[in-house]
Amino acid sequence: TSCNVAVVGATGAVGETMLKVLAERKFPIGRLHVLASERSAGEKLEFGGKTIVVEDLAKFDPSGVDIALFSAGGSVSKEYAPKFAAAGVVVIDNSSAFRYDDDVPLVVSEVNPEAARNRPRGIIANPNCSTMQMLVALAPIHRKAKIERINVATYQSVSGTGRRALEELGKQTAALLNFQQAKAEVYPVQIAFNVIPHGGDFTDNGYTTEEMKLVWETRKILGDDSIGVNATVVRVPVFYGHSEAVHIETRDKLSAADARALLETAPGVEVVDEPVNGGYPTPVTHASGQDPVFVGRIREDISHPRGLSLWVVSDNIRKGAATNAVQLAELVWNER
Ligand code: A2P
Repeated sequence: TSCNVAVVGATGAVGETMLKVLAERKFPIGRLHVLASERSAGEKLEFGGKTIVVEDLAKFDPSGVDIALFSAGGSVSKEYAPKFAAAGVVVIDNSSAFRYDDDVPLVVSEVNPEAARNRPRGIIANPNCSTMQMLVALAPIHRKAKIERINVATYQSVSGTGRRALEELGKQTAALLNFQQAKAEVYPVQIAFNVIPHGGDFTDNGYTTEEMKLVWETRKILGDDSIGVNATVVRVPVFYGHSEAVHIETRDKLSAADARALLETAPGVEVVDEPVNGGYPTPVTHASGQDPVFVGRIREDISHPRGLSLWVVSDNIRKGAATNAVQLAELVWNER
């Protein structure tokens, strides 16, 4: 039988890719509803060669829907996900609204798929894009050698901020190349030809919310509150694909060669690691438009006896959001 699906936020950067990934992976869709705000109700979208009309979320009756993929921001999820769940829909939510609730599983499909089965509220949370790619790469290492501490600096693309941020990078770049002023509207300062050490909001401990997500989500997904995570989130002028310089300390010594061997067979991971020009993944050469998490620059930390360094790159809109959400939908549907 086929699954009735709703995509909430279907006109956004992630929602659009959710539709693309559902089609690519031939998800067994029965009826498909694409939902957004009343601003875009009536607009037409394309799905698998057919045209579908965007419906207004506020006027939508979710009964009869089996699975809903939400990516319309935290406040929309907070209001509508419980309503959908009450109508019997399994909600897979890409916002951070429910990620830290004890009765909502937070699931990376390659890392803790079993957690998706226990969903008392009918909601499964999709992790933050930066946590997602980091843990696809680190979970196999953690299982083998127990990670005690993670130091990570991210190099995050603008697509993670949404469609308006993609436009802002394009417009600022064009303006500056034409000797005009760059207007900063989405980001607090110019993003074109710049880097910004700021994602989300500042919190009391000096870290930003995007940095704290890496701490909280890593512990919840790996089921280990003892892991120390120290993150610096940086926005860079890249359209698609987040990169991360990840430095870990393990309880048991793991050589770079052993880590490489482990990652070569890890699900969802592709190792690109040759010490030559271009022998490493980048957003543009490897990740953009692709599903795997690419790992390179695997080396032993010369400053720590049980330290390893890696470079982790993935398409934040695909594996970091849409692809994992669709993988979770597959999991739910296959186990019904
Ligand atoms: P809309 O296009 O109607 O504004 P992005 O993250 O790329 O900016 O996309 C956000 C997505 O969330 C869009 O599809 C947007 O729809 C949707 N959205 C935003 N606010 C609401 C709302 N109040 N109700 C329903 N959908 C919303």
